[in-house]
Amino acid sequence: MAKGKVQYQCNECGATVAKWGGQCPDCRAWNTLVEIPAELVSAAKSARFKSYQQQPSTVRSLDAIQADVQARIGTGMSELDRVLGGGVVHGSVTLIGGDPGIGKSTLLIQALASLTENGAGTTLYVSGEESPEQISQRARRLDLNLKDLYVLAENQLERIINALAAQHPQVVVIDSIQTVFTETLQSAPGAVGQVRECAAQLVRYAKQTNTAVFLVGHVTKEGAIAGPRVLEHMVDTVLYFEGDSGSRYRVVRAVKNRYGAVNELGVFAMTDKGLREVNNPSAIFLSRHEQPVAGSVVLVTREGTRPLLVEVQALVDPTQLSNPRRVTVGLEQNRLAMLLAVLHRHGGVSSYDQDVFVNVVGGVRISETGADLPVIMAILSSLRNRPLPDKLVTFGEVGLSGEIRPVQNGPERLHEAVKHGFTQAIVPKANCPKSGIEGLDIIPVTQLGQVLDRI
Ligand code: TYD
Ligand code: MG
Repeated sequence: MAKGKVQYQCNECGATVAKWGGQCPDCRAWNTLVEIPAELVSAAKSARFKSYQQQPSTVRSLDAIQADVQARIGTGMSELDRVLGGGVVHGSVTLIGGDPGIGKSTLLIQALASLTENGAGTTLYVSGEESPEQISQRARRLDLNLKDLYVLAENQLERIINALAAQHPQVVVIDSIQTVFTETLQSAPGAVGQVRECAAQLVRYAKQTNTAVFLVGHVTKEGAIAGPRVLEHMVDTVLYFEGDSGSRYRVVRAVKNRYGAVNELGVFAMTDKGLREVNNPSAIFLSRHEQPVAGSVVLVTREGTRPLLVEVQALVDPTQLSNPRRVTVGLEQNRLAMLLAVLHRHGGVSSYDQDVFVNVVGGVRISETGADLPVIMAILSSLRNRPLPDKLVTFGEVGLSGEIRPVQNGPERLHEAVKHGFTQAIVPKANCPKSGIEGLDIIPVTQLGQVLDRI
């Protein structure tokens, strides 16, 4: 490792100190000091300053700049293309996070194989976690074309960059960014400073050489990508790999995308031959019941650019605790507390002596407000132990004064429901198409009271 003098910088206020401590001496923030190589900083500064003096920067009008449409490489996996916004962009950096064992490595090796097959040029899979033998074994199991797949088992950033410069791959996967370290820092791989510096250098390489780079990132216990938040700012696209450990379905979600829509979902199923695309995901998030059951309702959500039918289940049960439990899986817990308060205040239904559990079937996570009305209906159904009609769908936002507010793309959601054989819909009035929809009995609602009357 480098011998030069080591300095530490505070992530919060930017103060530099010579000695590491738990607390920044300047702004008093805790755990914010990160190692920076002193000579690297001064060298970079002086080099940068010289280049400023030599060539003055030019200010240009946006109109005078030709924006050629970003050329994309299709991965051959339409669900992955969808979350990326239509394919891999040359020179883009994509960070992909997810729980261990969820299938990040599997997805990326499949994507590389598929890319080479589609004529994307050379690709390279850099692994700091698995040996070439392990990767080869997996690729064989997945029936990939091994001849055109290149791997490199390496952790040291400088060597990785040298290998990239020698081979010029079009697409590179770094699995994972937490295992890579640079010589210029003394801290261990995975330390905040290391992750940030390595990612910064890889981003620079991607932009300079127009190479598409995928970084695999580990997630913390809380589910965020481990390492500094700044990692998500540095890259162009951030994808999260989600899914129930018990279910074979996996969802890749774009949470940031400079080249496409966010909250776009790609759905895959894990099989013994790797990840398989699920092109009609609505069907898998509905659990099939022989007869309608109490506490279950189907909602049409819209994640990214496509509507999705999802089942929400609620269980309301008398509590044994002084603090009744409010548990959500796949939904925000605070939202549930708010909906229960609205239900009490504007619907006269109290649940202060009840435990309330709400679950979204199939391991999907819903982040939009269109799930409000379905959650309330599922809770009411469970509380009264009366099933809702099984061909009923619903969506809608519930306001604090008990009003039912419209959500985006109402008609499109309703059409998706018809496609899957639903015949009845309870939706916000403003979301009802004027001419109606054939085969669908639409019940418009504007107030919580109307919903209570209906069910
Ligand atoms: P992996 O891609 O190694 O996960 P990550 O890189 O996110 O940690 O996925 C490994 C899991 O996937 C492992 O539990 C086994 C399972 N799997 C299959 O079910 N089928 C397969 O064909 C492969 C390759 C893996
Ligand atoms: Mg892995």
